[in-house]
Amino acid sequence: MNASLESLAPGFGLAASGVDCSRALSDAEFAELERTFFQAQVLVLRAQSLTPAQYVAFARRFGPPEPHVIDQFHHPDDPNILILSNRKRDGEPVGLADAGTYFHTDYSYLQVPARATMLYSIEVPKAGGNTLFANQYAAYDGLSETMKKRIESLVGIHHYGNRKVADEMSRVAASPLTEEQKAKMPLITHPLVRPHPVTGRKALYAVSGSSYGIVGMPEDEAVALLDELALHATQPKYVYSLSYQVGDLVIWDNASLLHSATLTDPDDPRTLWRITVKEPSSALDALVVLAPTFAGGKM
Ligand SMILES: [Fe+2]
Repeated sequence: MNASLESLAPGFGLAASGVDCSRALSDAEFAELERTFFQAQVLVLRAQSLTPAQYVAFARRFGPPEPHVIDQFHHPDDPNILILSNRKRDGEPVGLADAGTYFHTDYSYLQVPARATMLYSIEVPKAGGNTLFANQYAAYDGLSETMKKRIESLVGIHHYGNRKVADEMSRVAASPLTEEQKAKMPLITHPLVRPHPVTGRKALYAVSGSSYGIVGMPEDEAVALLDELALHATQPKYVYSLSYQVGDLVIWDNASLLHSATLTDPDDPRTLWRITVKEPSSALDALVVLAPTFAGGKM
């Protein structure tokens, strides 16, 4: 491919110009793009112009798309696309607003988590709207040897939500689910130190966001350890703040990053189309441990 690459941050993040995602890439072209993606962890493909069908076809090259549990904002042309927007039509929201405004990784509350999340930028706000990315390879590497040993074989317990915010109507909570949507969400486990399913490199996994406990550890001790790891993992030295241009297609590697949206002015329009693709199920390392229980976010 005749793409030109620009580095975005020390150690990770690349922006590519000259890749047209609306056309079918050859297997060799896609293999090169995929290699670049896993190396970069965050890859921005500039100046795209995509129909919903073209966008979904491109996403499928990375893995099976998984429609979001919040189904009221699926794109009318294709349920694999979730509309993120603060716009309203006839007083009703046209998309999900304030989604994921805390550090988390996508679908860590599912047995087979997300491989990659893509945001296609349709409309950019006048101010803000950045996504923050925290490099969890670097965060793992930056732990003390004592801490690495302590957490090496620990297993986190996950469910949909944000451990730090109990009020689900807060703008920084996870987007609320209906009772029916909650019933689809069991408890799941994942290792705290998770070898990347493609690169094999160790990363801290989902220590912020959906992790609520640690298998075999009292809840208060587990939460204290998760909070300590989350504080470490989201230090500014591991974080890159990405700003969007119209036409950007941003793809990120959920197994090696935490990310957080940032709150924007509700009256400053912004719209993104999101697709999330799951890991192949052979990479499955999680077990369902219990039936769903959501009362007060307690285990
Ligand atoms: Fe997210």
